Amino acid sequence: MTKFKTPIPLLALSDLNKDITLSMVYNELNLLIIKEGKNIFIIEDRCGHFGVSLQAGKVSNGTIRCSAHGAVFDLLTGKIQNNFFDDCEPIKIYQWRKNNDWLEIFL
Ligand code: FES
Repeated sequence: MTKFKTPIPLLALSDLNKDITLSMVYNELNLLIIKEGKNIFIIEDRCGHFGVSLQAGKVSNGTIRCSAHGAVFDLLTGKIQNNFFDDCEPIKIYQWRKNNDWLEIFL
């Protein structure tokens, strides 16, 4: 049986009126909501290398660079972009949608 994901309202889109990285906890999930230009990304706030927070990471051209050791992840796919680490997993990416003025995440 297929289980459909349910959209959950996270925050008002008007809260994302500039480039920003917001940290949020929802149901014990540590999330980062990232706005870069016209793009919005929602990722789990956990580096695929040693699991540290990505909140202090540098966002650039649809990627985030972990502030700990420099792993770079694609914000659309979660895949690592610099193959520097053999033991690095992709980061978790969440799908989302706009619903009126709300950003909703699919969990
Ligand atoms: S913990 Fe992020 S690169 Fe090492």
